[in-house]
Amino acid sequence: MTFAQPAVRPPAEEPSPTATALLLLGRGSDPDSERGVECPGELPPASDPHLVERARAAKEALGERVFVLGHHYQRDEVIRFADVTGDSFKLAREAAARPQAEYIVFCGVHFMAESADILTGPWQQVILPDLRAGCSMADMAALHQVREAWDVLTDTGIADITVPVTYMNSTAAIKAFTGEHGGTVCTSSNAERALRWAFDRTGSPQGKVLFLPDQHLGRNTAVGHLGLDPADCVVYNPHRPGGGLSGRQLRDARMILWQGHCSVHGRFSPQNVTEVRERIPGVNVLVHPECRHEVVTRADFVGSTEYIIATVGAAPSGSAWAIGTELNLVRRLADRHPDKQIVFLDKTVCYCSTMNRIDLPHLVQTLESLQRGQVGGRIEVEAGVAAQARVALERMLALP
Ligand code: 13P
Ligand code: SF4
Repeated sequence: MTFAQPAVRPPAEEPSPTATALLLLGRGSDPDSERGVECPGELPPASDPHLVERARAAKEALGERVFVLGHHYQRDEVIRFADVTGDSFKLAREAAARPQAEYIVFCGVHFMAESADILTGPWQQVILPDLRAGCSMADMAALHQVREAWDVLTDTGIADITVPVTYMNSTAAIKAFTGEHGGTVCTSSNAERALRWAFDRTGSPQGKVLFLPDQHLGRNTAVGHLGLDPADCVVYNPHRPGGGLSGRQLRDARMILWQGHCSVHGRFSPQNVTEVRERIPGVNVLVHPECRHEVVTRADFVGSTEYIIATVGAAPSGSAWAIGTELNLVRRLADRHPDKQIVFLDKTVCYCSTMNRIDLPHLVQTLESLQRGQVGGRIEVEAGVAAQARVALERMLALP
C-alpha cells in the first residue's frame, strides 16, 4: 500500500463562517456558550487514555436510546462509534428511519444535523457534538441573498419557469426557500435525478434551474450527466448587483449556478491529475463531484463518498487509485485495502477542518452528558422553517 500523506493529526482549525459569526455575536469561543446552554459536562482532554473506554461505556449504558450517525469524513476515533456510516443522502434516510431512538448523535456537520432534525419526530433530539462543526459552502448562500436573487429572476421575467434545487450542503432556511418555491434538495448521489425532475417541472423548453450553493456539483451534473453545454450555465454572484449577470444572460441560460464552492475539493487541480498519471502509470483517478469541472472531466470516475467507497471496494487487487476527496476518508480506504495502491490526489494535506471538529473528547462529553440526562449541542430547526424544508427534503427522498 502506498499513501502519499503523513498520518498526522489534523491541524487546528479555522472557525467556519458560521462559527465566526457566532464569535462576532459575542457568544465567546466556548462551544457550549455558543449552544446557548450551560455546559453539560467537562470536555475531556484529548490525551485522556481512557477516552475509548469512556465512549464505549456511555454508549452501552444508553443502549437503544441513542443512535450515532457518522459521515465518511469523520475521524477514525469517532467513526468507530457510529451505528451507521454514510454519505449525506444515506445518513438523512437513516435518521428518518430510527423513530425509536430518543437521541440521534450526528457526527458530521451542521447542515446534516439540521436535516436529521427536520426528518425525525418531535419526540427525538438531534445532537451535534460540537456546534462549531459548520460547512463553509453552506455558509456561502444566505437567505437574504437567495431572496434577492429570486427577485432578480422575477424582474427578468423568468422566475415562473425556474425551479430551485439546493444541494444538501445548505442551511435549513435555504431548503425551506426551495420547498416554498416548488423545488427540491439533492445530494451528490442523486443530483442527476433531481435536475431531470426539476427541468421537467419547469414545464417549458426554456425552463431553468437555480442551483444552490455549489456551482461545481451543478455544472458537473448539468454538463456531465444531462449533456448541457457549459455555455448553458451562468454563475450568479450574490455580491454583485443582479448577480453580475445581464437580463439576456439570465434568459439565455438553462442552469443558474450559485457562486459557492467547497474549499476542500476546490484545491484539486488538473495539474494534480496530470502529475499522478505520470507518477503512477495506469492509476485510476476517482473524484467527488464537488471538484472543479476541469478536474472532473480529467478523472476516470466521479461520485459521492458512498460511491467512492463502493468503487474502491469492488476494484481488483493490485489496482492503483488516486482519490480526490477529504483526507480522513482516503486514509481509511488506504488502510482498509492494503492490497491496492491508494493515494491522495493532492500533494498537500487536505482535511475538512469543520468535520474534524468532532473528535473523541466531544463525543465522550456528549454521550456522558446524555447518560446524566443532560442534552448539549441540540440542533432544533424552527418549526416554520422545518415544515417548508421538509417539503423539499421529502421531494428528494421521493425522487424517481
Ligand atoms: P457526500 O454526500 O458525497 O457524502 O458529500 C458530502 C460532503 O459534504 C462532501 O463534501
Ligand atoms: Fe462542507 Fe466541503 Fe467540508 Fe463537505 S468537505 S462539509 S462541502 S467544507
